[in-house]
Amino acid sequence: MTKPAAAVVDEHIRPRQLADFIGQDDLRANLAVFIRAARERGKQMDHTLFYGSPGLGKTTLAQIVAGELGVNLVSTSGPVLERSGDLAAILTNLGRHDILFVDEIHRMPPTVEEILYPAMEDFKLDLIIGQGPGARSVKIDLEPFTLVGATTRIGLLTSPLRDRFGVILRLDYYSPEELSRIVTRAARIIKAEITPDGALTIGSRSRGTPRIANRLLRRVRDFAEVQGARTIDAELASAALKRMDVDALGLDQMDRKILSLIINHFQGGPVGVKTIAVACSEEVRTVEDIYEPFLIQCGFLKRTPRGRVATARAYQHLKRLGEDVDEGGFLTLPE
Ligand SMILES: Nc1ncnc2c1ncn2[C@@H]1O[C@H](COP(=O)(O)OP(=O)(O)OP(=O)(O)O)[C@@H](O)[C@H]1O
Ligand SMILES: [Mg+2]
Repeated sequence: MTKPAAAVVDEHIRPRQLADFIGQDDLRANLAVFIRAARERGKQMDHTLFYGSPGLGKTTLAQIVAGELGVNLVSTSGPVLERSGDLAAILTNLGRHDILFVDEIHRMPPTVEEILYPAMEDFKLDLIIGQGPGARSVKIDLEPFTLVGATTRIGLLTSPLRDRFGVILRLDYYSPEELSRIVTRAARIIKAEITPDGALTIGSRSRGTPRIANRLLRRVRDFAEVQGARTIDAELASAALKRMDVDALGLDQMDRKILSLIINHFQGGPVGVKTIAVACSEEVRTVEDIYEPFLIQCGFLKRTPRGRVATARAYQHLKRLGEDVDEGGFLTLPE
């Protein structure tokens, strides 16, 4: 299957070495130590878990770790591993010190997860062959390997699985400055000319997320090309982002829709996430994984035991943008 053009560009932009990975300074410094220690010891690295919102660099880091250690990376994902046999086949084919990358590891079925425990702990597979009284258990030795897991929802991992990771690293949203460096680097790779201000304009409206920054850069470049502009500056970037409905804080249409829904239809909340998802025609998982974390980070939304609540800040932001907001709803909003 041929990849869509955007995916090819993405692969091109993806940093290959830890030195090219921008931001997440503490995580990067720690990871450098663990990689170096494993290399000097001549052993596999400890099992490592990356968690954080989509597009913050989990897959990129898994590839970087494999590259820095000079080992193979075998990729799969939780929902793809339907039967324990699927995982067993992958594990028995791993070479010495290889990395098995399991994306969305929180979505792995429990039966598959169980065979992962002895594999992670003792590099052994415990397989049950046959059924009923004739069933027997066989143990297969595996090469020592490193499991690198990625998840957007660490809370959904079972504790036996979480406890088997020696290294657990959290990715945070990036600052506008870090994102502007990411944009500048990506622009160099795709041969787009951009001023520091232009990069900062895109960086500060990317929801703290490198994947979004790279995507916005490509769209802004489209506008620049069509207008015959050679260089992307702040003004051009700003105008293009406005046309894409990205506001001054980087909120997109759906972010604003969620907020105005809570404020105008549910008197500011609390309202359940399922109701929000239905009203916005989105999946609950998408609302929970993609939209909410950023809105919470911006201080626009709060999670309470009774549901989601919009804050006065959210109300002010929408009002500043000239959107219709229900004054009555605002009066009941908790600060
Ligand atoms: N620190 C970084 N520096 C430069 N570019 C980055 C960085 N982190 C991520 N990127 C870019 O952002 C894109 C998305 O990153 P990546 O695919 O690793 O995210 P992810 O966390 O695995 O997302 P998902 O949860 O959706 O799988 C990559 O193509 C990469 O080019
Ligand atoms: Mg990924």
